[in-house]
Amino acid sequence: MSERKPHAGLTGGLTNYGDTDFARYLRRSFAKSMGYTDAALDKPIVGICYTESGFNNCHRDFPQMLEAVKRGVLASGALPVVFPVISLGEVFLSPTSMNFRNLMAMDVEEMIRAQPMDSVVLMGGCDKTVPALLMGAASAGKPAVLLVSGPMMTGRHRGERLGACTDCRRFWARYRGGDVDEAEINQVEGRLAVTSGTCAVMGTASTMALIADTLGMMLPNSSAIPSVHADRLRAAEETGALAASLVGTDRTPDTLMTPAAIENALRVLLAVSGSTNAIVHLAAIAGRVGVDIDLDAFNRLSDETPVLVNLKPVGDGYMEDFNTAGGLDAVLRGIADKLNLETRDVTGQTLRERLARPLPDPIDTRFIRPPNDPVEPVGGLIALHGNLAPGGAILKRAAATPRLLEHEGRAVVFTSLEDLAARIDDPDLDVTADDVLVLQHAGPKSPAGMPEAGYLPIPKKLARQGVKDMVRISDARMSGTAFGTVVLHVTPEAADGGPLALVLTGDRIRLSASRKSIELLVSEQELAVRRANLPADKAGSQRGYKWLYGRHVGNATSGCDFDFLRRDWPGEPV
Ligand code: FES
Repeated sequence: MSERKPHAGLTGGLTNYGDTDFARYLRRSFAKSMGYTDAALDKPIVGICYTESGFNNCHRDFPQMLEAVKRGVLASGALPVVFPVISLGEVFLSPTSMNFRNLMAMDVEEMIRAQPMDSVVLMGGCDKTVPALLMGAASAGKPAVLLVSGPMMTGRHRGERLGACTDCRRFWARYRGGDVDEAEINQVEGRLAVTSGTCAVMGTASTMALIADTLGMMLPNSSAIPSVHADRLRAAEETGALAASLVGTDRTPDTLMTPAAIENALRVLLAVSGSTNAIVHLAAIAGRVGVDIDLDAFNRLSDETPVLVNLKPVGDGYMEDFNTAGGLDAVLRGIADKLNLETRDVTGQTLRERLARPLPDPIDTRFIRPPNDPVEPVGGLIALHGNLAPGGAILKRAAATPRLLEHEGRAVVFTSLEDLAARIDDPDLDVTADDVLVLQHAGPKSPAGMPEAGYLPIPKKLARQGVKDMVRISDARMSGTAFGTVVLHVTPEAADGGPLALVLTGDRIRLSASRKSIELLVSEQELAVRRANLPADKAGSQRGYKWLYGRHVGNATSGCDFDFLRRDWPGEPV
């Protein structure tokens, strides 16, 4: 690390009037209208990129956390300045929050770059906010540290613990199957998400928090502290102090999120049996620092990284259990022999130095198992290839029904989300439990915008017979809190003319997790005929953000980022 540079503070990036002294004088004058003294305005500035919103329940406790961050900044001799950016509350956005992740990332990047700050605290938590913050900060190039909201605590219902959102789906499936009545499902609705914070299981938000912690972008081992715990506020205060200590250093996100750190993050994703969405987000973050994720290399990591974490949606515990069990540092110890220990975190220490510190408590092995007694000997996620997904697809094998991991069945095709909604519960639908449900036109370029619709519901008539899982295939995503034998992110997607668009009801499809393959058992000649008869692309939206999105969003394998925001875009360097 090089020498500390002097801070620019309020005079960083002056507005251009063609007169620098005037710009400085005008900016100080307007800043003084907010009541700042000269002493305050001469300090280094720590921006606080803030995502509180009335449409984001997961960030409900941010006002309290913000006070703690400011306390840490001020106590360290810098001036905290809060600024808003877009917030993405997972369930409040249409068609899906994923559509807006890149918009938020652009907002974050441009506001960090355009406004006068020497370092920045990124406050986020809900699913898409953490990747958007990291993507934007990576491109903005100023020293940054992330503070997450932390997970929710669990609720209680008739003697059992409930946590969003695995139990949301479990109860909804029981309601669809006629096992739970209307009165009980209404009761459960009020007991699933009972505190502030992100979903209580190893869903996307939790996985992304652990990935950010592994990448070195947050106060070490602060990723899993529950939102409502006093430790969360202490972590917020320390994060503020850490951001102040970053001023003048060259500890920018791209110096921390190196290829080695990204590989460590992939290892952690596998060891915690994390969300399938995380592979998309990590690919997008990596793309901002010029790193491509190779799916074959990912499979090699998966085959040699054990699952150590026993949490829902595939295991027993919740994030509050994970935190008290030891948190990320306990997992890192378990796979330390597979990690690159020379990566650095935002405090400046190496991972080797981080892991040399003793944990404050023994690891609770009910939730974080030792490497010699793992939950599974191999990683939770694999990439699939084959003629149905030449560019790759993802399967969470840890969440699948073991007997379906090697399966051949007849395709039952839904051509869109609308078609799915119209027919899935039709009592006359020709479907059996051995069939393979296929959803087309739900990928990133489709009008649906890659929603979390890949967890296709079990047709009601089969659910009522007790069918709990079937092989399901789509170019959509799946909530990190869901489970089942679900093949996702099929690339190229149907809207891009991928082979998924050519599947017809009645075709045979073969899934083999052992061979990491997904095959459409139809001859090349027949597929060529079908391809020639594909209808021409419908024109997408012709204005605004939808226009931009339709033209520039990338495929799932590259993280669905806009091509012009990736480091390898041939335009001007940032
Ligand atoms: Fe925000 Fe699940 S809804 S993390």
